[in-house]
Amino acid sequence: MTDAPLLEIRDLVKHYPVKGRGFLRRARERVHAVEGVSVPLCAGRTLGLVGESGCGKSTLGRLVVGLEEPTAGAIAFEGRTMAEIDGASLRRLRRQIQIIFQDPYASLNPRMTVREILGEPFRIHGVAGAKEKVPALLEAVGLPAAHAGRFPHEFSGGQRQRIGIARALALRPKLIVCDEPVSALDVSIQAQMLNLLKRLQREMGLSYLFIAHGLAAVKHISDEIGVMYLGQLVEIAPKERLFAAPAHPYTQALISAIPRPDPRARSTRIVLEGDVPSPIDPPTGCRFHTRCPRMAEVGPRCREEAPRSVELSPGHRVSCHLFDRAAP
Ligand SMILES: Nc1ncnc2c1ncn2[C@@H]1O[C@H](COP(=O)(O)OP(=O)(O)OP(=O)(O)O)[C@@H](O)[C@H]1O
Ligand code: SF4
Ligand SMILES: [Mg+2]
Repeated sequence: MTDAPLLEIRDLVKHYPVKGRGFLRRARERVHAVEGVSVPLCAGRTLGLVGESGCGKSTLGRLVVGLEEPTAGAIAFEGRTMAEIDGASLRRLRRQIQIIFQDPYASLNPRMTVREILGEPFRIHGVAGAKEKVPALLEAVGLPAAHAGRFPHEFSGGQRQRIGIARALALRPKLIVCDEPVSALDVSIQAQMLNLLKRLQREMGLSYLFIAHGLAAVKHISDEIGVMYLGQLVEIAPKERLFAAPAHPYTQALISAIPRPDPRARSTRIVLEGDVPSPIDPPTGCRFHTRCPRMAEVGPRCREEAPRSVELSPGHRVSCHLFDRAAP
């Protein structure tokens, strides 16, 4: 038994070339989708990852499962850096990390039966025993084993997402990246799906990297929560700590936006001005400075210097000059 995290993301960077041939397009323009993210995830735990659309959450998830190659930085799983492993060892390691996508309609091949869909991971990874394992996989996610011969269109959205979960579980992974797994579903079945994920986590000792837009969606399932803005992790903390003492002005704004039953609480909502800037040409210094309601408390340094990550308490890190005044 080691104290090393199950997954460790270190200074991860992903840039995409900008497509299109616009007259003014510079050939070297890049989308800065993920920019220097470092985060640990311990075994058996759930790390929630939130942020506005386009802030790089899915890109980070795809990097973790190996659907994308990082531009720079490293991902280590059980203490082994992925880029340093290849061949059969890498394939074995990749089996341990699976993904559930947002859209249960688009992520299942409509021409395959459920039996074929669940058998595919076994086939791809050259693992025997698909046929015998399909009934148990279906039962684990609450679907009748007798439905294995059906096609995806014969199921509801929630049932399809259960099939997506069963497919992710097929090779007994240790980590599942859940990329907004419930946001396309009816509100009435979202809670059922989260309960299913929690039960599977308990029974199988799974770890989750759970991606969502807002804090409300990750509140119940997460142990730790990371907040992303324009490709960067601006704050991370144990869940209770993040809600009790949010430090970054962006986190404070996200928390203030969570609907509360008490109507008087609404007056405390922090409304951010302006749109999210383009990740092709992100702002200098702190990327949040064009919208930050607290920049005046720090001054021009916010525009000029990127804040470093400061640890406020165990596991609570924030990147904001408000907390790094003593730095040179
Ligand atoms: N294959 C790609 N080629 C070019 N740009 C990409 C590619 N994939 C993502 N991007 C860009 O990278 C940025 C981050 O995208 P990403 O999908 O990771 O965001 P997200 O946080 O998951 O957003 P959403 O909440 O809408 O799902 C966006 O600006 C997006 O347009
Ligand atoms: S560094 Fe400055 S602009 Fe960035 S979040 Fe902190 S106060 Fe706001
Ligand atoms: Mg996404």
